[in-house]
Formats: sequence, C-alpha cells, structure tokens
Amino acid sequence: MTGIGLRHPHFVSIEGGEGAGKTTVIGALRASLQADGCEVLGTREPGGTPLAERIRGLLLNTGEAGGASEPVAAETELLLMFAARAQHLREVIVPALERGAWVISDRFTDSSFAYQGAGRGLDPSFIAELEQRVVTVRPGLTLLLDIGVSEGRERTRGRDLAFGPDRIERERDDFFQRVRDAFLARAAAEPDRIRVLDATRPAEVVAADAVARLQAWRDSHKP
Ligand code: TYD
Repeated sequence: MTGIGLRHPHFVSIEGGEGAGKTTVIGALRASLQADGCEVLGTREPGGTPLAERIRGLLLNTGEAGGASEPVAAETELLLMFAARAQHLREVIVPALERGAWVISDRFTDSSFAYQGAGRGLDPSFIAELEQRVVTVRPGLTLLLDIGVSEGRERTRGRDLAFGPDRIERERDDFFQRVRDAFLARAAAEPDRIRVLDATRPAEVVAADAVARLQAWRDSHKP
C-alpha cells in the first residue's frame, strides 16, 4: 500500500454545501495570487481534465450523459469520483504544482467523505483506503464555506430554475444535513488544514475573509 500524499502548501481546496458561494471565493483567491505574480490553476472536482469531465457528466447526469435513468449505486459513485480524481491528480494537479503554480480546486477528497461517506452511508475506512492509494498529494489549506442546508438551497434556487438540479442536488435535506455535519466534523479533527468560514455573510465579505485566510497561510509558509 502506498502512503497518503503529503500536503502541498500551494494546493488549496474549497469545500462546502450547495449554495455556499464557492465560485465567488475562488475568483477572489485567484485574483489575489495573480496580483502577486503567481501562476494559478483553477480547477474542479469531479472534473478538471477532459476524461474526468466526462466522468463528471456520468456522475451528475448532465451533458451528453444526461437522461440515463439507471440508479447509480453508492459504491459506483465513490469509485467514479476517485477515478476522476486519479486522472485529475496525475494529468493536472501534480504537474502544475511541480512547475511552481498554485492550484485552487473547487472540491477535493473531503467531499467524498462528506457526500459518499456521510451522505450515502459508505464506510469511511473504504474511502480512506482509496485516498491512501490514489491521492498522492493533498491540499495544504482547505477553506470550508459553511452555510445551513435550507439557506444554501434557497441560494441555488435561481440557478436551478435555469438549468434544473443535477442528480446529487436532487437529494433531500437530511442528506445535505449529514454532508454539512461531516464537513464540520472533519474541520474540527484537522484544524491545522481546514478553516471554516461563515458563508451566510454577503458574498464579497466571505471572499475578503477567504483572501485574508490565504494570505495568513502564505505568511506562515514563507521560506
Ligand atoms: P459542484 O460543481 O461542486 O456543485 P455545487 O455548486 O452544487 O456545489 O458539484 C459537484 C457535485 O459533486 C456536488 O454535488 C458534490 C459532489 N461531489 C461528491 O459527491 N463527491 C466528491 O468527491 C466530489 C468531488 C463532489
């Protein structure tokens, strides 16, 4: 068995439930790093490479894979998430970090523990085993945008009217409550990596807070 990947200081993941405002935060983080002359790769999971984006389509039942009515087994969902992640790491994340870029990923492995573990009820040790085998490098910093389930849902309503909810977004509130609780439990267990941001505040306030947290992280990791 290979060991779990080391945390890389230039690898940042953004986590949170539906409607937490990840996109605005990622834009602000990217702009702040670029203003300092850093190369930044913004990416997302599931996805981030052409193959992994096709797996995303299968998982969320959107795009060309949309319309399939076959139920997706929880184990299938988990393994596809990790298949996409393996591809993403090898083709995109690791090469970017090796050339000195910053990588900001909209979601990473914490989402698998929250959604497939707590949400779907899969054994966390199964997920941890996949993490050990697949995840060769982990985020140095993770920002968790925390918002209550009903408030988050309220915020995604406009978006869902335009595109319709994806397969996971169609889950019930108790599923998302378990997801939120699992994210918070992971943050409590790993306070050195995961910073919790109150995402109920206005988007620009949350974004400014995220930029300040990243700056503090950079200051504490100056060579
Ligand atoms: P995302 O683009 O993050 O959308 P949202 O804006 O709805 O948060 O969607 C990705 C979906 O995939 C989201 O519902 C969470 C889910 N997901 C998992 O279930 N497990 C995972 O490991 C990852 C990375 C994402």
